[in-house]
Amino acid sequence: MARPISDDSLDALTPDLARVEHEDLSARIAEADRLYHQEDAPEITDAEYDALRRRLETIEARFPDLAGTGAASASVGAKPSEKFAKVRHPVPMLSLGNAFADEEVAEFVARVRRFLNWPEAEALAFTAEPKIDGLSLALRYEDGRLVTAATRGDGEVGEDVTANARTVSDIPQVLAGDDVPPICEVRGEVYLSHADFAAINARQEAAGKPLFANPRNAAAGSLRQLDPEITRSRPLKFFAYAWGEVVPAFEGTQHGVLARFASWGLPVNDRTRLCADAAAMVAHYRSIEAERADLGYDIDGVVYKVDDLALQRRLGFVSRSPRWALAHKFAAQKALTVVEDIEINVGRTGSLNPLAKLRPVTVGGVVVSNATLHNEGYVQGVGADGEPIRDGRDIRIGDTVVVQRAGDVIPKVMDVVLDKRPADSKPFAFPTECPACNSRAVREINPRTGKPDAVRRCTGGLICPAQGVERLKHFVSRNGFDLEGFGQTYIEVLFEAGLVRQPADLFRLDFEPLKAAIVARREALSAERRAEGAPAPKKPAKKKGDDEDKAIKNLLASVEERRTLPLNRFLFALGIPDIGESTAKALAKRFPDMAALMEGVDAARRDQAGPDWLAFSSLPRIGPTTRDRLLEFGYPREAGEADAGEGEGEDAEAQPQGRVRLSAPQRASLLAHFGDAEAVAAGIARAAAERPGDAYRHFADDGEIGPVATDSLIAFFSEPHNDAAVRALLAEVRTEPMAAPARATAFAGKTVVFTGTLERMTRSEAKATAERLGAKVSGSVSAKTDLVVAGPGAGSKLKDAEKHGVEVISEEAWLARVADA
Ligand code: IVH
Repeated sequence: MARPISDDSLDALTPDLARVEHEDLSARIAEADRLYHQEDAPEITDAEYDALRRRLETIEARFPDLAGTGAASASVGAKPSEKFAKVRHPVPMLSLGNAFADEEVAEFVARVRRFLNWPEAEALAFTAEPKIDGLSLALRYEDGRLVTAATRGDGEVGEDVTANARTVSDIPQVLAGDDVPPICEVRGEVYLSHADFAAINARQEAAGKPLFANPRNAAAGSLRQLDPEITRSRPLKFFAYAWGEVVPAFEGTQHGVLARFASWGLPVNDRTRLCADAAAMVAHYRSIEAERADLGYDIDGVVYKVDDLALQRRLGFVSRSPRWALAHKFAAQKALTVVEDIEINVGRTGSLNPLAKLRPVTVGGVVVSNATLHNEGYVQGVGADGEPIRDGRDIRIGDTVVVQRAGDVIPKVMDVVLDKRPADSKPFAFPTECPACNSRAVREINPRTGKPDAVRRCTGGLICPAQGVERLKHFVSRNGFDLEGFGQTYIEVLFEAGLVRQPADLFRLDFEPLKAAIVARREALSAERRAEGAPAPKKPAKKKGDDEDKAIKNLLASVEERRTLPLNRFLFALGIPDIGESTAKALAKRFPDMAALMEGVDAARRDQAGPDWLAFSSLPRIGPTTRDRLLEFGYPREAGEADAGEGEGEDAEAQPQGRVRLSAPQRASLLAHFGDAEAVAAGIARAAAERPGDAYRHFADDGEIGPVATDSLIAFFSEPHNDAAVRALLAEVRTEPMAAPARATAFAGKTVVFTGTLERMTRSEAKATAERLGAKVSGSVSAKTDLVVAGPGAGSKLKDAEKHGVEVISEEAWLARVADA
């Protein structure tokens, strides 16, 4: 695979580390130049090449001594590097949920209606507008004047590109109008037209500079310039389509705000339409798609948004994207090429990830030479559920394949052209040993489905260097421990030197061995290069020694700063499968610290369900509610279904109160699995005896955690080496409670219970709103409850509230309080 290019901060880069990386980069560039110009056979994409060049330039700007020393001499007159200042977004910049198929649009509309409990007969309007393929930018206007422009960054913190944005003629310095809110953060997309992109690349070529792969990269490269004069020379454009912090808040409709934007002098896309239903949305999507080639700028789909802003607010967000919007993407672009080889990379969790090495081909303007093959099953044409993939066609070395590229994601191999398969080709022999450590690699049987996992994994755990290095890289990454200085390259150096084998080792590093490892690596690399015939680099200047010592000290100091970390980041950094950032946050809401969480996981492990319950839980058409009621009340036999005991259908009136009502398909699903009514009843009894206990359900029933993540946590901590590694780390690092949500509301940390019939919102909406405001929603009232919201028909919970003296309010009053929060 193309080796990743470090994007580490330069702060902790010592002159020696810089020299090592510089040598490596210039060798890679020289090789790429040779392949491109002499062999006419590039092996990396233009974008990868650009990235190599840019990294080289950044390093040379910081360490001017290095300029001209490597195999490729690159930078003439690179500007001194001042990193962009960081800007924290007052309202996070989120992403959008994606859809490709028309049906998904109808599902989106239905989902929105269901959430709002919006009657079928009542109108619900959506805007539909082009999804611009550029980079998003937040423009903060105070009293109508542009004060800051920031890139998206990681969504929470972006880069301050104010000086550059001021050179973009599409972006007004002052908003014209007497109705501009005093604080008004306009968000939109910076992009380049096709014509301007072509002109920029022509200039690059004439100047012997690397070309940009596409207009988006060129726009990003132009905006993120250290010298605003370069930005000025690039005719960037802007469309406004959203907003962040606005005080006082906008009211009315999405299309109303866009009209106000336009009246203030902001460019707004004129292909925005108001649509009454999914059919109208898809129709507008089709018309935009038909115009796509003639627009003169890149778009990659259409964005739909609920028009009414009050409804947008009610809908809120799921994880990182709004419930009220959807990006309907255009079908990805495809091309044919040949699989020249299949490589296996070992991931952080030991997964053996096959990668197709392709004969380079242009897909939608970008040269592609690698494509993911996902996992063993995908190569063989068999899914995890045993279902065929591509009608069962496998992928072999030598095959002609269809590659697809959508947006930024790694290209995929979609299909095989069997007609073009070489006569002597053989099915790809997927390794059963880990290529990194030779341990056995296995496909585990999933206890829920009884089928082998789609992914083959190395069993080497901690002894596997690939896993160790990948885990450590994840550990130090920005959203984990954020030890940027160690970055991607140096983790490998320290791992190979045996200095850092597990996370705790990072906290036990000493100055001398660290320095020795870095120097040894540098010398080994130079020797290697000389053996390959490269000229010896200029002798490193000895007087740099002091600088280097200082930089290593900085590196060690950055480690000291991470001896306390919020629990959610600590958890995410561990790289436990299925524990991403949002699950880590959900866990951190439930537990004050790591020790408590580990105790909770241990209790959950003891309280796990047995195999009969697991099998019962994955029956088609039987959701968790029906499942639990069946386990509580038993199988509701129908008249005619023999009951071993009574020999007769039961009389409905004689049923216990909690008789479960099953639909015909649900009943059919049970009978299909077990055989007959008697077997169903017996199966339910067995499953009931193996129900998971409370400690397990504390995790699994939490909608934000769920059973998959719970099982993964249990599996992780059941491995003694993982448990030991975490304990070793806890001897060095303390976890603290997760940082409080950005806005402290009157509901933060409060426990709320909803009971009775809610008339103006659905249960899910009520819960989502409460959680957005920082409250926890519980199903039962206790002394710990802070507030009960009761609608008509509320019963025992109301009594419990009285008993514990908990405040009770109506739905009306709740909505009023929410509006104030
Ligand atoms: S609305 C809360 N509208 O697409 C999200 N985004 O995939 C607000 N984008 O990061 C975004 N055109 O950079 C919106 N008309 C449009 C857009 C658009 C392009 C980008 C934007 C966002 C990304 C999400």
